[in-house]
Amino acid sequence: MNMWWFITTLAITAFICNSPAYAYDNNPLQDICVAVNDSQAAVFVNGKICKDPKFATANDFFASGLNVSGTPGSGGASKFLTVDKIPGLNTLGISIGRIDLEPQGLAPLHTHPRATELITVLKGTLYVGFLVPDSANFFKSRLFSKILYPGDVFVFPIGLIHFQYNMGNKKATYLSFFNSQNPGFVIIPNSIFASNPPISDDILAKGFQLNKTDIALLRKKFS
Ligand SMILES: *[C@@H]1O[C@H](CO)[C@@H](O)[C@H](O)[C@H]1NC(C)=O
Ligand SMILES: *[C@@H]1O[C@H](CO)[C@@H](O)[C@H](O)[C@H]1NC(C)=O
Ligand SMILES: *[C@@H]1O[C@H](CO)[C@@H](O)[C@H](O)[C@H]1NC(C)=O
Repeated sequence: MNMWWFITTLAITAFICNSPAYAYDNNPLQDICVAVNDSQAAVFVNGKICKDPKFATANDFFASGLNVSGTPGSGGASKFLTVDKIPGLNTLGISIGRIDLEPQGLAPLHTHPRATELITVLKGTLYVGFLVPDSANFFKSRLFSKILYPGDVFVFPIGLIHFQYNMGNKKATYLSFFNSQNPGFVIIPNSIFASNPPISDDILAKGFQLNKTDIALLRKKFS
């Protein structure tokens, strides 16, 4: 039909396919790359400088403590073992976490910009879900949700907004696995209503079709 359109699309596709995608963890270029634990030696990419492999030990690949719950927060407790806790994870593209939710406790709507998350329930009953933009109408989305019992597994695809809720009347415990050494967390309500500096009331009121009184109330709840 339109030859120019075709050639341009082909050229753009070829360019995108050949560009390295640094949004995700890189493939390792060596057998091991244990992170040096030195804040002065930080590099501001998703990775850390490698320790000399001859000084690496089994402990660089070890952590304990997932037998107990982590730092308490509202509605539950969480503990994440990323590259900051297990330096041997550096460049390997994987990490783990343990989350304990109180009855009616919620891991609020959030995303992990760099990882798909896979969870398995150890105890309790969870209601979980993620949102997929509706490809026919970007102003709508589809909810994929499920009730999970011990032993059940559920996947939250990379970048998509999701939640986990303890719908039972006992504590719920689950393990999370991420295909990133540092998956990142974006908690949607807090990101929006507790930013520093704040997003202007006009933008928030327009964006959420609320008035400024409502916006002030939401800011207060999340600050
Ligand atoms: C959890 O594991 C640690 C390390 O192995 C151990 O010291 C601790 O006693 C365990 N705690 C419980 C409650 O089992
Ligand atoms: C890295 O060093 C800090 C500060 O000395 C310490 O708190 C932390 O536990 C260390 N991390 C590891 C994985 O050894
Ligand atoms: C703002 O909207 C809420 C409902 O969302 C309403 O109850 C309230 O009266 C409104 N306030 C103003 C100042 O318009």
